[in-house]
Amino acid sequence: MKVIFITSNEGKFREAKSIGEKYGIEVEWRKEEYLEPQGNDLEEIARKSAEMLSKKIKEPFFIEDSGLFIPALKGFPGPYSSFVFKTIGNEGILKLMDGVEDRRAYFLAVVAFFDGKEILTFKGRVDGRIAKEMRGDKGFGFDPIFEYDGRTFAEMGDEKNEVSHRRRALEELFRYLAKK
Ligand code: IMP
Repeated sequence: MKVIFITSNEGKFREAKSIGEKYGIEVEWRKEEYLEPQGNDLEEIARKSAEMLSKKIKEPFFIEDSGLFIPALKGFPGPYSSFVFKTIGNEGILKLMDGVEDRRAYFLAVVAFFDGKEILTFKGRVDGRIAKEMRGDKGFGFDPIFEYDGRTFAEMGDEKNEVSHRRRALEELFRYLAKK
């Protein structure tokens, strides 16, 4: 089976393609930026984006939306992760977390899949902690401050892809497609 992944991020596409191969699913890249609706809920945002795109793309496709959630900050930056990363960045998050003891955090990824008729969503989550300072030079976004099992995602390199929220959400989708 072939399915289109709509994303402007080539790294995300390559990751999805290699996971898809394990399930016998061919992932094709459609490089496209689309306007994300605003909202407080990642699943709803992903679903609405897919709904919008389904008006012009009639073949099966999926998109992915993710964010970093920090319980001590009431879930911030959550669905605003991309904007927060571009504005206050890792340093800003570290400042907000200064003196905060509860350093738990998680990444959440939502994949919204359009099967030609309806939209289905799949989720993946990875739990970790906000480090005290930035460490590591690999990856992107909040990777240098997200600690998983003692190392930051930016220190883990490709090993991150084995445990990431995105991988978990994509595997949910591919398991579903492989069964069909
Ligand atoms: P989007 O799904 O590309 O819109 O991602 C939203 C934002 O969440 C990105 O700009 C990153 O700042 C952050 N983010 C999502 N996934 C990751 C990840 O795996 N590592 C680090 N930051 C991430």
